[in-house]
Amino acid sequence: MATQDKLYEGKAKILYATDEPDILLTVFKDDATAFNAQKRGTIAGKGEINCRMSAHLFRRLEAAGVPTHFIDCPQPHTMRVQAVRIVPIEVVVRNRAAGSLCKQTGLPLGLALEPPLVEFYYKNDALGDPLLTLDRVCVMQLATAEQVAELRQMALTINQILTAFFDQCGITLVDFKLEFGRVGDRLILADEISPDTCRLWDQAESDPDRRVMDKDRFRQDLGQVEAAYQRVLDRVLSQNT
Ligand code: TMP
Repeated sequence: MATQDKLYEGKAKILYATDEPDILLTVFKDDATAFNAQKRGTIAGKGEINCRMSAHLFRRLEAAGVPTHFIDCPQPHTMRVQAVRIVPIEVVVRNRAAGSLCKQTGLPLGLALEPPLVEFYYKNDALGDPLLTLDRVCVMQLATAEQVAELRQMALTINQILTAFFDQCGITLVDFKLEFGRVGDRLILADEISPDTCRLWDQAESDPDRRVMDKDRFRQDLGQVEAAYQRVLDRVLSQNT
């Protein structure tokens, strides 16, 4: 499993080619950014935690019938993945109001969203990942209306599986971001699922700061970032059912 060329370095991960053309290596970094990289820092151990947590959740999703790019983890912070053509749309699912939704709409933090809200953002750092409408997606030829419906349906299915799982861990899945890729016509879940890409609230805590177990601790300078990530991983790994 020789690593070859670095194909791409993102804010949280580096992608390498391997000697097998359909397989890539993702190395998860400890680097953390927020607000489109205006805030930068390091979260010690994050790379390994996010890699192990993503691997665990991808395995669970696969077992529940959701196709993912995950193959295996040759090292604790390294994941072998299937090469896909990334869909340039970030899909956000929200079960409760938080983050940019509260900022942009005035909805109160924590408001339950029933049914869950599904949003689409243009994956483009230079433009600041703007919120899309269905009409914009079509005009920009990012996807067809049919493909958007498929993304929404897959995201809602994943939300059901993950919400139930995190509930078993005593964690509320507030919202999360997914990225998808295609192999031929097949849509496949890609990227990662981790405290970087999810909002996770500890159900044992009612205090709005103390309950936060995700990257909001870094975004909002709440402290104890590493400990919160580790607690999430420990709870996720301790669930065997
Ligand atoms: P938002 O409330 O800032 O729009 O974030 C919604 C969810 O998406 C939250 O769980 C964090 C995640 N997210 C990412 O994974 N990457 C990003 O660049 C942003 C802005 C959010």
